[in-house]
Amino acid sequence: MKNTIKITDGLYYVGGNDRRIPLFESAYPVPRGVTYNSYLLLDEKTVLFDTVDRAVSDEFFENVAGVLGGRPLDYLVLHHMEPDHSASFEGIVSRYPNVKVVVNQKIGTMLKNYFSCPLPELVTVKDGETLCFGKHSFRFVFAPMVHWPEVMMSFDETAGTLFSADAFGTFGALSGSIFADEVDFEKEFLDDARRYYFNIVGKYGVQVQNVLKKAAGLPVKTVCPLHGPVWRKDFGWYLNKYDIWSKYEPEEKGVAVFYATIYGHTKNAAEILGAALAENGVTNVKLYDTSFTHYSVLLAEAFRYSHIVFASPTYNNGIFSSMEHFLSELNAHNYQNRAVSFIENGSWAPQAGKLMREKITALKGMREVGTGVTVLSSVKEDVRENLIGLAKEIANDFRK
Ligand code: FEO
Repeated sequence: MKNTIKITDGLYYVGGNDRRIPLFESAYPVPRGVTYNSYLLLDEKTVLFDTVDRAVSDEFFENVAGVLGGRPLDYLVLHHMEPDHSASFEGIVSRYPNVKVVVNQKIGTMLKNYFSCPLPELVTVKDGETLCFGKHSFRFVFAPMVHWPEVMMSFDETAGTLFSADAFGTFGALSGSIFADEVDFEKEFLDDARRYYFNIVGKYGVQVQNVLKKAAGLPVKTVCPLHGPVWRKDFGWYLNKYDIWSKYEPEEKGVAVFYATIYGHTKNAAEILGAALAENGVTNVKLYDTSFTHYSVLLAEAFRYSHIVFASPTYNNGIFSSMEHFLSELNAHNYQNRAVSFIENGSWAPQAGKLMREKITALKGMREVGTGVTVLSSVKEDVRENLIGLAKEIANDFRK
């Protein structure tokens, strides 16, 4: 049976929730699930915005048919070709063979690459072009690399609704309420939204900034992303987060200590540092074991905080594997503009500090704070004093 929600006059939510998926994109744990959003407009023409992942396609087809109520589907707008949004394309075409599909040139090419079925009529739009479906006139705004090169958004100039593709989405399934103002977004979704942003589009801050500038001129009342809640109130709060995130600025003043540890001695050093930071008045401190917290969480937390400490044992004459993987993820996501400090451990030839420093300081805008600390196997009193000294140097920098 259909389960649809009215968004605005004539616009309905026809997507679905997936609470069974263990890993989004086979990479990111989503214990709270994820939504695949699709919207259907009833105007003089009927217009479907995107499809959904196969996981929820049965309920999606029922929702579309239910909202159409026997009317034909006139148009399908595709904003993004990633299969979590396009996988049900063939199912829509087989049910509504006369549908016209609105694409841009790159989406048209990808459509042919992904699908082997005969394609219906394509309506290819250019950046800034408008299409009218009756009372509602839509402007198409290209958003390359947010998250793939073909991505575009569309703006309903009549209703003030922005269909924002992956932008402003989040992990997390919905529980009845579709609107961000009906849930405590900051408490329930912000951590997932940050993790989604940095892991999915975090590499493309410049492109996100370009889209934010394009969207700034639009009188937006409602934002309909492809994942997570719809925004119709206080969108400026979320927009400000995107502005901070895409400029690679810290969202919070705080210290994230990322440690790898084999037998607990590097953990001991990290805990001593954490306690010394608190004694020096720095209380927004978070410690993470890089082997036991998923790298997608580590990445989001690294982008969240202003001051970062990396602590790793030396392993095979290099950096311990979970820390090395984390550092490569930071590099891949264009990590930059942070105050960083280092702790290394080694039982006969400590190398990890030097190697971590080389990788991190090669990134843009990195600034080392304090004197790096070396642990020889386990923390002794002199090394404890060094850790307390490093905490004082970080605290002094923190207060600047
Ligand atoms: Fe939600 Fe880039 O797909």
